[in-house]
Amino acid sequence: MQSLQQSKTKENIAKPRTKKKVFIETLGCQMNLADTERMLGMLEDIEYYPTDKFAEADLSILNTCSIREHAVDKMRSYIGKWDKLRKPGSLIAVSGCVAQQEGSDLVKEIKTLDILVGTHNIHRLPDLVIEAENKYREALDNGVEGIEDNRGINFSRPQTAEVWEELPELIPETPIFRKTKYFAWVNIIYGCNYKCTYCIVPKTRGEQRSRSIEEIKSEIEGLAKEGFKEIILLGQNVDGYGLDIKTNFTTLLREIHKVEGIERIKFLTSHPCDMTFELIETVAELPKFSKYFHLPIQSGNNEVLKRMARRYTYERYMELINYIRKLMPSATVTSDIIIGFPGETHEQFMDSIKAIQEARFDACNTAVYSKRPFTPAATWDDPISAEEKNERIRFMNAIIAETAEKQAQRYLGTIQKVLVEGPSQRNPMRLAGRIDDNKTTNIDCDPELHDKYIGQFVDVRITKANAWALRAEIV
Ligand code: SAH
Ligand code: SF4
Ligand code: F3S
Repeated sequence: MQSLQQSKTKENIAKPRTKKKVFIETLGCQMNLADTERMLGMLEDIEYYPTDKFAEADLSILNTCSIREHAVDKMRSYIGKWDKLRKPGSLIAVSGCVAQQEGSDLVKEIKTLDILVGTHNIHRLPDLVIEAENKYREALDNGVEGIEDNRGINFSRPQTAEVWEELPELIPETPIFRKTKYFAWVNIIYGCNYKCTYCIVPKTRGEQRSRSIEEIKSEIEGLAKEGFKEIILLGQNVDGYGLDIKTNFTTLLREIHKVEGIERIKFLTSHPCDMTFELIETVAELPKFSKYFHLPIQSGNNEVLKRMARRYTYERYMELINYIRKLMPSATVTSDIIIGFPGETHEQFMDSIKAIQEARFDACNTAVYSKRPFTPAATWDDPISAEEKNERIRFMNAIIAETAEKQAQRYLGTIQKVLVEGPSQRNPMRLAGRIDDNKTTNIDCDPELHDKYIGQFVDVRITKANAWALRAEIV
Protein backbone atom coordinates (compact mmCIF):
# COMPACT_ATOMS: atom_id res chain seq x y z
CA MET A 1 0.00 0.00 0.00
CA GLN A 2 2.94 2.25 0.67
CA SER A 3 3.59 2.97 -2.98
CA LEU A 4 -0.05 3.84 -3.58
CA GLN A 5 -0.07 6.15 -0.62
CA GLN A 6 2.93 8.00 -1.93
CA SER A 7 1.75 11.47 -2.66
CA LYS A 8 2.38 13.42 -5.79
CA THR A 9 3.64 16.91 -5.28
CA LYS A 10 4.06 19.47 -8.03
CA GLU A 11 7.75 18.58 -7.87
CA ASN A 12 7.69 14.89 -8.50
CA ILE A 13 5.57 15.05 -11.60
CA ALA A 14 7.99 15.38 -14.43
CA LYS A 15 5.57 14.46 -17.25
CA PRO A 16 4.51 17.27 -19.58
CA ARG A 17 0.91 18.38 -19.01
CA THR A 18 -0.11 17.93 -22.63
CA LYS A 19 -2.62 15.25 -21.74
CA LYS A 20 -6.12 15.94 -20.44
CA LYS A 21 -6.82 18.54 -17.82
CA VAL A 22 -9.06 18.44 -14.78
CA PHE A 23 -10.41 21.42 -12.87
CA ILE A 24 -11.90 20.92 -9.38
CA GLU A 25 -13.87 23.47 -7.39
CA THR A 26 -13.95 22.46 -3.72
CA LEU A 27 -16.70 23.67 -1.41
CA GLY A 28 -17.11 22.84 2.30
CA CYS A 29 -14.73 21.51 4.91
CA GLN A 30 -11.29 19.88 5.06
CA MET A 31 -12.83 16.45 4.31
CA ASN A 32 -13.64 17.80 0.89
CA LEU A 33 -10.19 19.36 0.47
CA ALA A 34 -8.69 15.97 1.28
CA ASP A 35 -11.11 14.23 -1.12
CA THR A 36 -10.14 16.67 -3.86
CA GLU A 37 -6.49 15.72 -3.41
CA ARG A 38 -7.49 12.06 -3.63
CA MET A 39 -9.51 12.64 -6.80
CA LEU A 40 -6.56 14.46 -8.40
CA GLY A 41 -4.26 11.59 -7.41
CA MET A 42 -6.57 8.94 -8.89
CA LEU A 43 -7.25 10.91 -12.05
CA GLU A 44 -3.58 11.31 -12.73
CA ASP A 45 -3.45 7.53 -13.16
CA ILE A 46 -5.79 7.93 -16.13
CA GLU A 47 -3.77 10.88 -17.42
CA TYR A 48 -5.81 13.82 -16.26
CA TYR A 49 -3.62 16.58 -14.85
CA PRO A 50 -4.73 19.44 -12.62
CA THR A 51 -5.44 22.89 -13.99
CA ASP A 52 -6.76 25.97 -12.25
CA LYS A 53 -8.28 27.30 -15.48
CA PHE A 54 -11.86 26.15 -16.03
CA ALA A 55 -11.78 27.17 -19.71
CA GLU A 56 -9.08 24.64 -20.60
CA ALA A 57 -10.47 21.72 -18.58
CA ASP A 58 -11.50 18.47 -20.25
CA LEU A 59 -13.17 17.45 -17.01
CA SER A 60 -14.57 19.84 -14.39
CA ILE A 61 -15.65 18.57 -11.00
CA LEU A 62 -17.75 20.38 -8.42
CA ASN A 63 -16.96 18.85 -5.01
CA THR A 64 -20.07 19.86 -3.07
CA CYS A 65 -20.94 20.61 0.57
CA SER A 66 -24.38 20.16 2.07
CA ILE A 67 -23.99 21.61 5.55
CA ARG A 68 -26.32 24.58 4.94
CA GLU A 69 -29.60 25.31 3.23
CA HIS A 70 -29.67 25.94 -0.54
CA ALA A 71 -26.82 23.48 -1.13
CA VAL A 72 -28.69 21.89 -4.03
CA ASP A 73 -29.57 25.29 -5.55
CA LYS A 74 -25.97 26.37 -5.27
CA MET A 75 -24.88 23.25 -7.12
CA ARG A 76 -27.50 23.83 -9.83
CA SER A 77 -26.34 27.37 -10.35
CA TYR A 78 -22.68 26.30 -10.66
CA ILE A 79 -23.55 23.62 -13.19
CA GLY A 80 -25.74 26.01 -15.18
CA LYS A 81 -22.92 28.53 -15.40
CA TRP A 82 -20.30 25.87 -16.16
CA ASP A 83 -22.41 24.36 -18.93
CA LYS A 84 -22.53 27.71 -20.74
CA LEU A 85 -18.78 28.22 -20.50
CA ARG A 86 -17.42 24.72 -20.89
CA LYS A 87 -14.88 23.76 -23.52
CA PRO A 88 -16.66 21.77 -26.29
CA GLY A 89 -16.44 18.05 -25.70
CA SER A 90 -15.55 18.44 -22.02
CA LEU A 91 -17.26 16.64 -19.15
CA ILE A 92 -18.85 18.02 -15.98
CA ALA A 93 -18.99 15.97 -12.77
CA VAL A 94 -20.49 16.45 -9.30
CA SER A 95 -18.98 14.75 -6.25
CA GLY A 96 -19.18 15.27 -2.50
CA CYS A 97 -21.91 15.59 0.07
CA VAL A 98 -24.75 16.88 -2.12
CA ALA A 99 -24.17 14.01 -4.56
CA GLN A 100 -24.29 11.48 -1.72
CA GLN A 101 -27.40 13.08 -0.21
CA GLU A 102 -29.39 13.32 -3.44
CA GLY A 103 -28.38 9.99 -5.00
CA SER A 104 -28.01 9.03 -8.64
CA ASP A 105 -31.47 10.29 -9.65
CA LEU A 106 -29.99 13.76 -9.62
CA VAL A 107 -28.78 13.28 -13.20
CA LYS A 108 -32.38 12.87 -14.38
CA GLU A 109 -33.02 16.37 -13.20
CA ILE A 110 -29.78 17.99 -14.31
CA LYS A 111 -29.41 17.01 -17.93
CA THR A 112 -26.18 18.92 -18.43
CA LEU A 113 -24.34 16.82 -15.86
CA ASP A 114 -22.14 14.01 -17.25
CA ILE A 115 -20.87 12.26 -14.13
CA LEU A 116 -22.14 11.90 -10.58
CA VAL A 117 -20.19 10.15 -7.82
CA GLY A 118 -20.96 9.87 -4.09
CA THR A 119 -18.62 10.15 -1.11
CA HIS A 120 -18.96 6.43 -0.28
CA ASN A 121 -17.62 5.36 -3.69
CA ILE A 122 -15.26 8.21 -4.54
CA HIS A 123 -12.59 5.60 -5.38
CA ARG A 124 -14.76 4.63 -8.38
CA LEU A 125 -14.22 8.03 -10.03
CA PRO A 126 -11.56 6.99 -12.59
CA ASP A 127 -13.74 4.11 -13.85
CA LEU A 128 -16.76 6.38 -14.11
CA VAL A 129 -14.77 8.98 -16.04
CA ILE A 130 -13.62 6.35 -18.52
CA GLU A 131 -17.18 5.06 -18.87
CA ALA A 132 -18.42 8.60 -19.50
CA GLU A 133 -15.69 9.24 -22.09
CA ASN A 134 -16.62 6.05 -23.92
CA LYS A 135 -20.31 6.88 -23.96
CA TYR A 136 -19.54 10.33 -25.27
CA ARG A 137 -17.29 8.99 -28.02
CA GLU A 138 -19.94 6.46 -29.01
CA ALA A 139 -22.52 9.21 -29.33
CA LEU A 140 -20.05 11.14 -31.47
CA ASP A 141 -19.46 8.08 -33.70
CA ASN A 142 -23.19 7.61 -34.06
CA GLY A 143 -23.50 11.19 -35.21
CA VAL A 144 -25.83 12.29 -32.42
CA GLU A 145 -27.06 15.69 -33.48
CA GLY A 146 -25.44 18.61 -31.71
CA ILE A 147 -22.65 16.69 -30.05
CA GLU A 148 -19.73 18.30 -31.92
CA ASP A 149 -20.24 21.72 -30.48
CA ASN A 150 -21.54 20.33 -27.21
CA ARG A 151 -24.76 22.33 -27.22
CA GLY A 152 -27.17 21.04 -29.85
CA ILE A 153 -30.83 21.42 -28.94
CA ASN A 154 -31.48 17.75 -29.53
CA PHE A 155 -28.35 16.60 -27.82
CA SER A 156 -29.18 14.49 -24.82
CA ARG A 157 -25.96 13.85 -22.91
CA PRO A 158 -25.10 10.24 -22.11
CA GLN A 159 -24.84 10.34 -18.30
CA THR A 160 -22.88 8.19 -15.84
CA ALA A 161 -24.03 8.15 -12.22
CA GLU A 162 -23.03 5.94 -9.32
CA VAL A 163 -23.76 6.71 -5.67
CA TRP A 164 -23.45 3.86 -3.18
CA GLU A 165 -26.03 3.81 -0.38
CA GLU A 166 -23.97 1.24 1.52
CA LEU A 167 -20.52 2.02 2.82
CA PRO A 168 -17.74 -0.18 1.44
CA GLU A 169 -16.33 -2.47 4.14
CA LEU A 170 -12.76 -1.47 3.52
CA ILE A 171 -11.72 2.05 2.74
CA PRO A 172 -9.72 1.60 -0.44
CA GLU A 173 -6.35 3.34 -0.44
CA THR A 174 -5.83 5.66 -3.39
CA PRO A 175 -3.01 7.84 -4.64
CA ILE A 176 -3.11 11.45 -3.46
CA PHE A 177 -2.05 14.59 -5.29
CA ARG A 178 -0.90 17.04 -2.60
CA LYS A 179 -1.65 20.64 -3.41
CA THR A 180 0.36 21.90 -0.46
CA LYS A 181 4.10 21.39 -0.16
CA TYR A 182 5.04 21.74 3.49
CA PHE A 183 1.96 20.59 5.35
CA ALA A 184 -0.35 17.72 4.49
CA TRP A 185 -3.86 16.64 5.47
CA VAL A 186 -4.15 13.06 6.69
CA ASN A 187 -7.57 11.49 7.19
CA ILE A 188 -7.67 9.38 10.33
CA ILE A 189 -11.40 8.68 10.48
CA TYR A 190 -14.16 8.79 7.92
CA GLY A 191 -17.78 9.53 8.84
CA CYS A 192 -19.37 10.25 12.20
CA ASN A 193 -21.25 8.13 14.72
CA TYR A 194 -23.20 10.92 16.36
CA LYS A 195 -26.56 12.21 15.36
CA CYS A 196 -26.60 15.86 16.31
CA THR A 197 -30.18 16.79 15.49
CA TYR A 198 -29.28 19.59 13.04
CA CYS A 199 -26.52 17.84 11.12
CA ILE A 200 -26.48 16.25 7.66
CA VAL A 201 -22.94 14.83 7.91
CA PRO A 202 -23.91 11.34 9.20
CA LYS A 203 -26.10 11.04 6.10
CA THR A 204 -23.47 12.27 3.65
CA ARG A 205 -20.41 10.61 5.17
CA GLY A 206 -21.78 7.49 6.85
CA GLU A 207 -20.78 5.98 10.15
CA GLN A 208 -17.37 6.35 11.75
CA ARG A 209 -14.55 4.21 10.36
CA SER A 210 -11.08 4.65 11.82
CA ARG A 211 -8.05 3.85 9.70
CA SER A 212 -5.53 1.59 11.42
CA ILE A 213 -2.58 3.11 13.26
CA GLU A 214 -0.15 1.23 10.95
CA GLU A 215 -1.78 2.60 7.82
CA ILE A 216 -1.83 6.19 9.13
CA LYS A 217 1.72 5.97 10.39
CA SER A 218 3.03 4.58 7.14
CA GLU A 219 1.32 7.40 5.20
CA ILE A 220 2.96 9.95 7.50
CA GLU A 221 6.37 8.29 7.21
CA GLY A 222 6.02 8.54 3.44
CA LEU A 223 5.18 12.22 3.74
CA ALA A 224 8.20 12.84 5.98
CA LYS A 225 10.45 11.21 3.38
CA GLU A 226 9.05 13.56 0.75
CA GLY A 227 9.93 16.56 2.89
CA PHE A 228 6.59 17.46 4.47
CA LYS A 229 7.10 19.07 7.87
CA GLU A 230 3.63 19.48 9.25
CA ILE A 231 0.71 17.07 9.42
CA ILE A 232 -2.94 17.91 10.06
CA LEU A 233 -4.98 14.91 11.19
CA LEU A 234 -8.56 15.08 9.96
CA GLY A 235 -11.89 13.73 11.11
CA GLN A 236 -15.38 14.92 12.07
CA ASN A 237 -14.61 13.79 15.61
CA VAL A 238 -10.91 13.03 16.00
CA ASP A 239 -11.26 12.40 19.74
CA GLY A 240 -13.49 9.42 18.90
CA TYR A 241 -10.62 7.93 16.86
CA GLY A 242 -10.14 4.20 17.39
CA LEU A 243 -13.28 3.51 19.42
CA ASP A 244 -14.46 1.30 16.53
CA ILE A 245 -11.16 -0.60 16.23
CA LYS A 246 -10.26 -1.07 19.90
CA THR A 247 -7.63 1.63 20.21
CA ASN A 248 -7.80 5.34 21.03
CA PHE A 249 -6.70 8.77 19.95
CA THR A 250 -3.88 9.29 22.45
CA THR A 251 -2.30 5.97 21.42
CA LEU A 252 -2.35 7.18 17.82
CA LEU A 253 -0.88 10.56 18.80
CA ARG A 254 2.02 8.93 20.64
CA GLU A 255 2.80 6.72 17.64
CA ILE A 256 2.71 9.58 15.16
CA HIS A 257 4.88 11.73 17.38
CA LYS A 258 7.72 9.27 16.80
CA VAL A 259 7.85 9.85 13.04
CA GLU A 260 11.17 11.49 12.26
CA GLY A 261 11.13 14.51 9.99
CA ILE A 262 7.63 15.62 10.96
CA GLU A 263 8.09 18.63 13.18
CA ARG A 264 4.57 19.86 13.82
CA ILE A 265 1.26 18.05 14.22
CA LYS A 266 -2.30 19.39 14.49
CA PHE A 267 -5.70 17.78 14.47
CA LEU A 268 -9.31 18.77 13.79
CA THR A 269 -12.16 18.59 14.74
CA SER A 270 -12.45 17.74 18.44
CA HIS A 271 -15.77 16.81 20.01
CA PRO A 272 -16.26 17.90 23.64
CA CYS A 273 -18.08 14.66 24.48
CA ASP A 274 -15.09 12.49 23.57
CA MET A 275 -12.23 14.81 24.55
CA THR A 276 -10.45 13.50 27.65
CA PHE A 277 -8.08 14.99 30.21
CA GLU A 278 -5.60 12.37 29.07
CA LEU A 279 -5.70 13.80 25.55
CA ILE A 280 -5.08 17.31 26.85
CA GLU A 281 -2.14 16.01 28.92
CA THR A 282 -0.72 14.21 25.89
CA VAL A 283 -0.82 17.34 23.75
CA ALA A 284 0.76 19.36 26.56
CA GLU A 285 3.52 16.79 26.99
CA LEU A 286 4.51 16.09 23.39
CA PRO A 287 6.46 19.00 21.86
CA LYS A 288 5.52 18.42 18.22
CA PHE A 289 1.83 18.96 18.93
CA SER A 290 0.51 22.44 18.25
CA LYS A 291 -1.17 23.83 21.32
CA TYR A 292 -4.25 24.38 19.26
CA PHE A 293 -7.76 23.02 19.77
CA HIS A 294 -10.76 23.42 17.52
CA LEU A 295 -13.53 22.46 19.91
CA PRO A 296 -17.01 23.38 18.66
CA ILE A 297 -19.39 24.30 21.48
CA GLN A 298 -22.48 24.97 19.26
CA SER A 299 -24.39 26.57 22.15
CA GLY A 300 -23.68 27.84 25.67
CA ASN A 301 -27.06 26.70 26.98
CA ASN A 302 -27.67 23.24 28.42
CA GLU A 303 -31.27 22.98 27.27
CA VAL A 304 -30.26 23.78 23.68
CA LEU A 305 -27.26 21.43 23.85
CA LYS A 306 -29.61 18.67 24.92
CA ARG A 307 -32.00 19.29 22.04
CA MET A 308 -29.00 19.32 19.71
CA ALA A 309 -28.03 15.89 21.15
CA ARG A 310 -24.50 17.13 21.81
CA ARG A 311 -23.89 14.85 24.85
CA TYR A 312 -22.11 17.40 27.06
CA THR A 313 -23.08 20.30 29.28
CA TYR A 314 -21.73 23.81 29.32
CA GLU A 315 -20.04 23.00 32.65
CA ARG A 316 -18.22 20.00 31.17
CA TYR A 317 -17.14 22.10 28.21
CA MET A 318 -15.66 24.74 30.52
CA GLU A 319 -13.90 22.05 32.55
CA LEU A 320 -12.06 21.00 29.37
CA ILE A 321 -11.20 24.58 28.44
CA ASN A 322 -9.94 25.35 31.93
CA TYR A 323 -7.77 22.25 31.92
CA ILE A 324 -6.31 23.19 28.52
CA ARG A 325 -5.52 26.68 29.79
CA LYS A 326 -4.08 25.34 33.04
CA LEU A 327 -1.60 23.05 31.27
CA MET A 328 -0.99 25.30 28.24
CA PRO A 329 -1.68 28.90 29.22
CA SER A 330 -1.13 30.30 25.75
CA ALA A 331 -3.01 27.58 23.83
CA THR A 332 -5.31 28.66 21.00
CA VAL A 333 -8.92 27.58 21.24
CA THR A 334 -11.38 28.05 18.38
CA SER A 335 -14.99 26.99 18.11
CA ASP A 336 -18.25 26.84 16.11
CA ILE A 337 -21.63 28.16 17.25
CA ILE A 338 -25.09 27.79 15.73
CA ILE A 339 -27.46 30.75 16.15
CA GLY A 340 -31.22 30.41 16.23
CA PHE A 341 -31.49 26.65 16.71
CA PRO A 342 -35.28 25.91 16.63
CA GLY A 343 -36.85 27.57 19.65
CA GLU A 344 -33.65 29.23 20.95
CA THR A 345 -34.83 32.03 23.28
CA HIS A 346 -33.08 35.34 23.71
CA GLU A 347 -31.76 34.20 27.13
CA GLN A 348 -30.42 30.99 25.61
CA PHE A 349 -28.70 32.98 22.88
CA MET A 350 -27.14 35.21 25.54
CA ASP A 351 -25.71 32.06 27.18
CA SER A 352 -23.75 31.49 23.95
CA ILE A 353 -22.46 35.08 24.14
CA LYS A 354 -21.37 34.46 27.73
CA ALA A 355 -19.63 31.25 26.64
CA ILE A 356 -17.52 33.11 24.05
CA GLN A 357 -16.36 35.54 26.72
CA GLU A 358 -15.71 32.93 29.38
CA ALA A 359 -13.93 30.48 27.09
CA ARG A 360 -12.02 33.38 25.45
CA PHE A 361 -12.09 31.96 21.94
CA ASP A 362 -9.32 33.03 19.60
CA ALA A 363 -11.75 32.59 16.72
CA CYS A 364 -15.22 31.17 16.26
CA ASN A 365 -17.27 30.24 13.19
CA THR A 366 -20.89 31.26 13.44
CA ALA A 367 -23.84 30.12 11.36
CA VAL A 368 -27.55 30.74 11.51
CA TYR A 369 -29.32 27.41 11.92
CA SER A 370 -30.30 25.84 8.56
CA LYS A 371 -32.92 23.14 8.09
CA ARG A 372 -31.32 20.02 6.63
CA PRO A 373 -33.20 17.11 5.05
CA PHE A 374 -33.33 13.81 7.00
CA THR A 375 -32.49 15.56 10.32
CA PRO A 376 -34.80 15.56 13.37
CA ALA A 377 -34.60 19.32 14.00
CA ALA A 378 -35.90 20.03 10.49
CA THR A 379 -39.40 19.08 11.64
CA TRP A 380 -39.34 21.19 14.80
CA ASP A 381 -41.13 24.48 15.32
CA ASP A 382 -38.90 27.40 14.53
CA PRO A 383 -40.76 30.56 15.56
CA ILE A 384 -37.80 32.97 15.51
CA SER A 385 -37.88 35.37 12.57
CA ALA A 386 -35.04 35.64 10.06
CA GLU A 387 -34.51 39.30 11.09
CA GLU A 388 -34.08 38.29 14.71
CA LYS A 389 -31.55 35.60 13.74
CA ASN A 390 -29.61 38.03 11.59
CA GLU A 391 -29.58 40.52 14.44
CA ARG A 392 -28.23 37.81 16.76
CA ILE A 393 -25.45 36.70 14.42
CA ARG A 394 -24.31 40.30 13.83
CA PHE A 395 -24.11 40.89 17.57
CA MET A 396 -22.30 37.61 18.14
CA ASN A 397 -19.73 38.25 15.43
CA ALA A 398 -18.92 41.61 17.01
CA ILE A 399 -18.38 39.95 20.40
CA ILE A 400 -16.16 37.29 18.79
CA ALA A 401 -14.04 39.93 17.02
CA GLU A 402 -13.64 41.85 20.27
CA THR A 403 -12.67 38.71 22.22
CA ALA A 404 -10.27 37.52 19.52
CA GLU A 405 -8.61 40.94 19.34
CA LYS A 406 -8.03 40.94 23.11
CA GLN A 407 -6.74 37.37 23.02
CA ALA A 408 -4.29 38.13 20.22
CA GLN A 409 -2.49 40.75 22.36
CA ARG A 410 -0.80 37.99 24.35
CA TYR A 411 1.48 37.35 21.37
CA LEU A 412 2.81 40.92 21.12
CA GLY A 413 6.57 41.00 21.56
CA THR A 414 6.86 37.21 21.88
CA ILE A 415 9.16 35.03 19.78
CA GLN A 416 7.28 32.44 17.71
CA LYS A 417 8.19 29.72 15.24
CA VAL A 418 6.50 30.13 11.84
CA LEU A 419 6.36 27.50 9.12
CA VAL A 420 6.63 29.80 6.09
CA GLU A 421 4.22 28.78 3.34
CA GLY A 422 4.95 31.46 0.73
CA PRO A 423 4.43 35.15 -0.07
CA SER A 424 1.35 36.68 1.52
CA GLN A 425 -1.59 36.82 -0.91
CA ARG A 426 -2.55 40.32 0.19
CA ASN A 427 0.94 41.76 0.10
CA PRO A 428 3.64 39.88 -1.80
CA MET A 429 6.29 41.93 0.02
CA ARG A 430 5.53 39.81 3.07
CA LEU A 431 5.82 36.13 3.81
CA ALA A 432 2.89 34.23 5.30
CA GLY A 433 2.74 31.20 7.53
CA ARG A 434 1.42 29.97 10.84
CA ILE A 435 2.81 29.93 14.34
CA ASP A 436 2.67 26.85 16.49
CA ASP A 437 -0.78 27.82 17.85
CA ASN A 438 -2.06 27.99 14.26
CA LYS A 439 -2.49 31.75 14.09
CA THR A 440 -1.80 33.17 10.61
CA THR A 441 1.29 35.39 10.66
CA ASN A 442 2.59 37.82 8.03
CA ILE A 443 6.30 38.50 8.13
CA ASP A 444 7.96 41.65 6.81
CA CYS A 445 10.81 40.39 4.67
CA ASP A 446 12.82 41.55 1.68
CA PRO A 447 11.43 39.62 -1.36
CA GLU A 448 14.99 38.74 -2.37
CA LEU A 449 15.21 36.62 0.76
CA HIS A 450 11.85 34.89 0.36
CA ASP A 451 13.24 31.75 -1.27
CA LYS A 452 15.58 31.24 1.63
CA TYR A 453 12.69 31.04 4.09
CA ILE A 454 9.84 29.38 2.18
CA GLY A 455 9.23 25.89 3.52
CA GLN A 456 11.35 26.52 6.62
CA PHE A 457 10.59 27.08 10.27
CA VAL A 458 11.67 30.63 11.05
CA ASP A 459 11.88 32.40 14.41
CA VAL A 460 10.03 35.71 14.41
CA ARG A 461 9.10 38.46 16.85
CA ILE A 462 5.44 39.50 16.84
CA THR A 463 5.10 43.23 16.16
CA LYS A 464 1.33 43.61 15.66
CA ALA A 465 -1.67 41.53 16.64
CA ASN A 466 -5.28 41.73 15.58
CA ALA A 467 -8.26 39.40 15.70
CA TRP A 468 -7.45 37.62 12.44
CA ALA A 469 -3.68 37.67 12.02
CA LEU A 470 -0.30 38.60 13.44
CA ARG A 471 2.51 40.68 11.94
CA ALA A 472 6.11 39.83 12.63
CA GLU A 473 9.78 40.44 11.88
CA ILE A 474 12.48 37.82 11.53
CA VAL A 475 14.87 37.61 14.48
N1 SAH B 1 -18.00 17.47 13.55
C1 SAH B 1 -18.01 18.82 13.93
C2 SAH B 1 -18.78 19.73 12.99
C3 SAH B 1 -18.95 19.44 11.58
S1 SAH B 1 -20.00 20.50 10.68
C4 SAH B 1 -18.65 18.94 15.31
O1 SAH B 1 -19.23 18.02 15.79
O2 SAH B 1 -18.60 20.00 15.86
C5 SAH B 1 -19.21 22.07 10.84
C6 SAH B 1 -20.05 23.13 11.50
O3 SAH B 1 -21.16 23.47 10.72
C7 SAH B 1 -20.66 22.70 12.82
O4 SAH B 1 -19.75 22.83 13.86
C8 SAH B 1 -21.85 23.60 12.97
O5 SAH B 1 -21.53 24.75 13.72
C9 SAH B 1 -22.20 23.97 11.53
N2 SAH B 1 -23.46 23.33 11.16
C10 SAH B 1 -23.69 22.02 10.99
N3 SAH B 1 -24.99 21.80 10.66
C11 SAH B 1 -25.58 23.01 10.64
C12 SAH B 1 -26.92 23.45 10.37
N4 SAH B 1 -27.89 22.60 10.09
N5 SAH B 1 -27.17 24.78 10.42
C13 SAH B 1 -26.19 25.66 10.71
N6 SAH B 1 -24.93 25.30 10.97
C14 SAH B 1 -24.60 24.00 10.93
FE1 SF4 C 1 -22.40 16.48 12.70
FE2 SF4 C 1 -22.54 16.08 15.30
FE3 SF4 C 1 -21.18 14.39 13.79
FE4 SF4 C 1 -20.23 16.82 14.20
S1 SF4 C 1 -20.54 15.22 15.75
S2 SF4 C 1 -20.34 15.74 12.23
S3 SF4 C 1 -22.08 18.04 14.27
S4 SF4 C 1 -23.37 14.73 13.75
FE1 F3S D 1 -19.88 20.04 4.02
FE2 F3S D 1 -19.69 17.46 3.74
FE3 F3S D 1 -17.83 18.77 5.04
S1 F3S D 1 -21.53 18.58 4.22
S2 F3S D 1 -18.92 20.50 5.92
S3 F3S D 1 -18.29 18.98 2.91
S4 F3S D 1 -18.53 16.71 5.45
